[in-house]
Amino acid sequence: MSAQRLSTLDFREMKQKGEKITMVTAYDHPTAQLVDEAGVETILVGDSLGMVVLGYEDTLSVTIEDMIHHSKAVVRGSERAFVIVDMPFLTYQVTVEDALRNAGRIIQSTGAQGVKLEGGGEVVEAVSAITRAGIPVVGHLGLTPQSAGQLGGFKVQGKDPRVAREMIEDALALEDAGMFMLVLECVPRQLAALITSRLSVPVIGIGAGKECDGQVLVFHDVMGIYTGKRPKFVKQYAQARDEMEKGIKEYISEVRSGLFPEEKHTFSMNEEDLSRAME
Ligand code: KIV
Repeated sequence: MSAQRLSTLDFREMKQKGEKITMVTAYDHPTAQLVDEAGVETILVGDSLGMVVLGYEDTLSVTIEDMIHHSKAVVRGSERAFVIVDMPFLTYQVTVEDALRNAGRIIQSTGAQGVKLEGGGEVVEAVSAITRAGIPVVGHLGLTPQSAGQLGGFKVQGKDPRVAREMIEDALALEDAGMFMLVLECVPRQLAALITSRLSVPVIGIGAGKECDGQVLVFHDVMGIYTGKRPKFVKQYAQARDEMEKGIKEYISEVRSGLFPEEKHTFSMNEEDLSRAME
């Protein structure tokens, strides 16, 4: 029997009880299975997919079709975790109708439980329309990679009092619009702590300090698979790439030397049948 999926109510309760919420990204079936069985509460099919899996420079090239394709695999691979799908660039910024239609398409075609979108005041109407349609929405403030160009690159956000005040107002406005969870990326811990205490919905931090209600990291960073630039806020918990490289080099070497395959990896037939086959 499959486990019951966690719901938005469980996260609100966890916040009230002071229990930390864990979130990690996954983009495929085996990873989803692994992190779900390990016990994370939420899986994010992040548009970081673009960099860590598809080999793009940034998240801007990721399409809704990419997100749907990968999210379907993640949903099939998980039983208990709440699966959140990132709405890619330009699928929610143009019009509110677009945002609602695209959020609906993602949920309907993947079976995921919620969507995440980046931004503050400018996306409040979209968040409101999507939640009114019954789709759980996660907000994302601070360093929002889809607008990194406008923010001047991948930098800490909110050190400036004016920007910090705006972030607090945006967080409250998103909560009023119906957001059930907020991701805060690359924000000074004091500001993240303040926002966490002001909101009744859980705040999940990435580079936002330990006072948040939970933490999120990119799977490939956690496991030491991604070879690109590693931000200061990443902690690597395994060196999986080294292990994988060792394994693949051993395979190449054994094939070349004739050590693999061994008898136990091989099928055989009797000589008589072989002779008959040659008749
Ligand atoms: O795309 C992503 O992986 C994200 C996380 C870094 C929060 O948005």
